[in-house]
Amino acid sequence: MQFAGSHIISVDQFERADIEAIFAVADRMEPYAHRRKITRVLDGAILGSMFFEPSTRTRVSFGCAFNLLGGHVRETTGFEHSAIAKGESLYDTARVISGYSDIITMRHPEPGSVTEFANASRVPVLNGGDGSNEHPSQALLDLYTIKLEMQGRGGGIDRIRIALIGDLRFGRTVHSLCKLLSLYRDIDVLLISPPELKMPGEIVATMREAGHSVTETENLAAHIGNVDIAYSTRLQEERFGSQEDADRYRGRFRLNHHFYTQHCDPNTVIMHPLPRDSRAVANELDNDLNDNPNLAIFRQADNGVLVRMALFAMVLEVVDQIDNDSRGVNWYTGSRFQKPAP
Ligand code: NCD
Repeated sequence: MQFAGSHIISVDQFERADIEAIFAVADRMEPYAHRRKITRVLDGAILGSMFFEPSTRTRVSFGCAFNLLGGHVRETTGFEHSAIAKGESLYDTARVISGYSDIITMRHPEPGSVTEFANASRVPVLNGGDGSNEHPSQALLDLYTIKLEMQGRGGGIDRIRIALIGDLRFGRTVHSLCKLLSLYRDIDVLLISPPELKMPGEIVATMREAGHSVTETENLAAHIGNVDIAYSTRLQEERFGSQEDADRYRGRFRLNHHFYTQHCDPNTVIMHPLPRDSRAVANELDNDLNDNPNLAIFRQADNGVLVRMALFAMVLEVVDQIDNDSRGVNWYTGSRFQKPAP
């Protein structure tokens, strides 16, 4: 695809070569994201960050990614702090904010809303999650993490065996990730969810058309032993009609040290888009796994910065200039960035 000036709304926009191009640029961002070097390639540029749903990682890492390229960030968070609360349309908001910004990141609870906004925007818009629909930058960072974790084990993305666990109906990260996996070969996909929270049929069909083996089940213990990646997710309670509806599924699949030792291959990589729900009623990914070297969740979150830097650099067409005028950092940076387990 042509990245320069494009909106990034859905992973359907990408072909495999595009993903590889993004990952190659993400690799080049490592010295900057890991605070060994500084670049000012986006000096003077403004990111309009519009987040109308709760967010920590996506909002802050998009912002940091832009800052690390030398740009400035203007944030709007929550409808209550925006003129949308006064009845302003997405069209008008997009027309206005795109005059103030060079690029926009947006999260909104309605599927399709980011497309509607992008259609009215005068600058590129990157989708930070539109309801239960899609979360393209998350899927890219998930796939980038899978690539790095599997590389450490002598493998690649093709032929991986992956289990997606939890709320596969409303979870936008797994929707986008499954669509991306359809660009790769011979993947074994295990979809573990309650029947009411199954992966949408059209996404399952896309994976089968890609030649992947897809198994849908409710039985975590019976199947989890045969995967390279166990990708757990949070119950998307905000998309349920009522709290009672959501409560019926809370805590249904719990991954903890005991379960992992009993049922998983000792090399299994553990992933989660985060936030994990650590309340006792849910606890889908227990803190007792925190010291497990295969727990990739924080490496995954760190990788988000590299991938988002790559997207900004490609869409704003500065990839070739990143290393111009770069220099070392002035401050103590420590060694906070972990490599995947061997
Ligand atoms: C996810 C999201 O917002 O879809 N979080 C994220 O962006 N890392 C997953 C979730 O909220 O459960």
